[in-house]
Amino acid sequence: MITVIGLGPMGQAMVRGFRKAGHEVTVWNRTASRAEGLDASVAPTVTDALNASELVILSLTDYKAMYDILDGQPIKGKVIVNLSSDSPGKTREAAKWASEQGATFIDGGIMVPAEQVATDIAYVFYSGPEDAVRKYEPELSVIGKVKYVGSAPGLGQLFYQAQLDIFLTTLAAYLHATALIEAAGVPVTEYHEFALENFATVNFVLEDALKNIQSGEHPGDLANVIMMGATADHIVAASNESGVDPALPYAVKSLYDRAIAKGHGRDSWTSLYEVIKP
Ligand SMILES: NC(=O)c1ccc[n+]([C@@H]2O[C@H](COP(=O)([O-])OP(=O)(O)OC[C@H]3O[C@@H](n4cnc5c(N)ncnc54)[C@H](OP(=O)(O)O)[C@@H]3O)[C@@H](O)[C@H]2O)c1
Repeated sequence: MITVIGLGPMGQAMVRGFRKAGHEVTVWNRTASRAEGLDASVAPTVTDALNASELVILSLTDYKAMYDILDGQPIKGKVIVNLSSDSPGKTREAAKWASEQGATFIDGGIMVPAEQVATDIAYVFYSGPEDAVRKYEPELSVIGKVKYVGSAPGLGQLFYQAQLDIFLTTLAAYLHATALIEAAGVPVTEYHEFALENFATVNFVLEDALKNIQSGEHPGDLANVIMMGATADHIVAASNESGVDPALPYAVKSLYDRAIAKGHGRDSWTSLYEVIKP
């Protein structure tokens, strides 16, 4: 038996995945109607939902919702897997809170949208006690491949945030670039294939980036910060000229400006890392 608390699109997708894989599932959701149509046992109260299983999966908007639901409830002896998004700091606090109540706490982040949960491409970062993750790996694998990243609480959350850092910024960059094209009166369809091509170039460039970040050396023989910073300036100018919101390219330009001010003008773009890191 698996208990799932939280029946937004993600929780619902997990329940469907568990049922398809043959698991019995008990669910609870603040708004009871969201359980309608799910082939699961609907617990009338949170306490009943907790009493149904040792494994309790949370799929909530944030960690505050977890306290709203579980504070004062009998969680002793439960293995709580919180797959809700929040900051790593909030996640560490939650792990401490749960352990003070006698529960085992695992945090995680699902790296696919709801429609891809429980498919071959889904994967989920987890951190917390490895023995508990491995014990429930057969059940957790239904949601997506288990990517265990370490025992420190919040690490799974951090890997999730890091992936979304790239994802959200990339999506915003795509929208910005598309808006520049459309502002010139060109149909967005004429640009789209070039946007897609860009991702292959990024993959290629990142191979060298890792080497430079690891070594702390940023040779800029082929392309340097002054040249790329000038391009960043030009994108801000293009935005301003066409009335497209310049906030995103301006943030990028500011990294180049600060790298140049720090003496990295002749280095590779990877030297921006020296400005970004703490
Ligand atoms: N959707 C995605 O594509 C996606 C992808 C990866 C990760 N995630 C993460 O997975 C988590 C769940 O996603 P989702 O799209 O299903 O989220 P959601 O639509 O925000 O639904 C989350 C659930 O949280 C409940 N909830 C929120 N605040 C509550 C509170 N104070 N007390 C009790 N219940 C509360 C909601 O209950 P009610 O029904 O009563 O409102 C709902 O069941 C989020 O942390 C999200 O960031 C989502």
